[in-house]
Amino acid sequence: MGRGESVAAYVMSPITQMLPAITAVAVLGVIVAGWLQRGEEYLVPESGPGYWLGIGGSMAMLSLLVYSLRKRYRAARIIGSVRFWFRTHMLLGIAGPVLVLFHTNFKLGPMNSNVALFAMLLVACSGIVGKYIYGKIHMGLYGHKARVEEILAQADELKRELGEELKAAEFVSRELNAFSNEIKGKTPTTAIGSLWFGAIIAVRARALRHHLIAEARRLIRIEGKARGWSWWQRRQGLRKITQIVRLYSAAVIKAAELGFYERLFALWHVLHLPLFFLMVGTGIIHVWAVHHY
Ligand code: HEM
Ligand code: HEM
Repeated sequence: MGRGESVAAYVMSPITQMLPAITAVAVLGVIVAGWLQRGEEYLVPESGPGYWLGIGGSMAMLSLLVYSLRKRYRAARIIGSVRFWFRTHMLLGIAGPVLVLFHTNFKLGPMNSNVALFAMLLVACSGIVGKYIYGKIHMGLYGHKARVEEILAQADELKRELGEELKAAEFVSRELNAFSNEIKGKTPTTAIGSLWFGAIIAVRARALRHHLIAEARRLIRIEGKARGWSWWQRRQGLRKITQIVRLYSAAVIKAAELGFYERLFALWHVLHLPLFFLMVGTGIIHVWAVHHY
């Protein structure tokens, strides 16, 4: 695996990092605008566009199940990649509820409709939490499932890139080796153990990162002075070391936290599905009721 591919798995590009925040601001903006306009009754759920928004939103939420289908059946691969359908799932999982909010014109109705509404909002929020946990146990944004050995092997690979030509690099490499050796083979087997282990390693890796970068800066300054390096040469040396230390600690943290997030994700699945079924059930009763009473 090339370095670009493996390393990108831990550190996202700035745009990718910003995407959730941008989406959140846009979606909240649209919702607040709709909420402020609700008194005007541009939309009513009984008829016209308001009615169709209910149908459109429900269709959007039903179509996000195509992801489950695609994920489970390889034969369905003619309809596109799992990654594409996962992305579509998230998009429709946000767009669907927004359309339905506009369908209700931000007003509550009979009990059953309200249960459908709250179940829907809960499923969508739970989906966002799920995506966060999902990101912790996969490589990159839509990559394959992460494995501890694989991540640690890549972290070791990074250390090799440090080279030995600088004193600072040599020092950093030694410290990272010591850290790796200490945590190797210590993956706990119980849920509480993995939570504790993940938390301790995360804190220690962050402290190590801070310490190594500060120390590398000091060593480079001394070595640079002794060898008459220019400011630019010192900067380049430090940049390389800093980047590798950051990636290394990100990889180690990811490996340490993996066990905990895997358990959390399994738990999340157990909570997410009943909410989904509650929404579908009450949604069907709602559609039946509004046309019969
Ligand atoms: C999960 C999907 C849906 C949710 C959460 C939902 C929610 C709601 C809520 C809370 C209201 C009450 C708003 C008010 O009284 O001002 C309402 C009204 C209504 N909805 Fe939906 N809706 C959904 C889907 C649909 C669909 C697919 C249709 C049509 C096929 C539909 C048709 C209606 C109608 C006709 C009303 C007006 C009923 C009345 O005022 O008695 N809804 N909906
Ligand atoms: C009303 C909106 C939503 C509904 C009804 C819904 C429904 C579902 C269902 C039924 C599953 C189980 C799929 C399976 O295991 O086959 C699922 C999984 C998932 N959903 Fe959603 N979802 C919604 C919104 C969202 C949103 C907004 C996000 C993220 C931004 C999201 C992220 C996820 C993730 C990460 C999984 C787990 C995927 C996996 O295990 O492969 N969902 N959702």
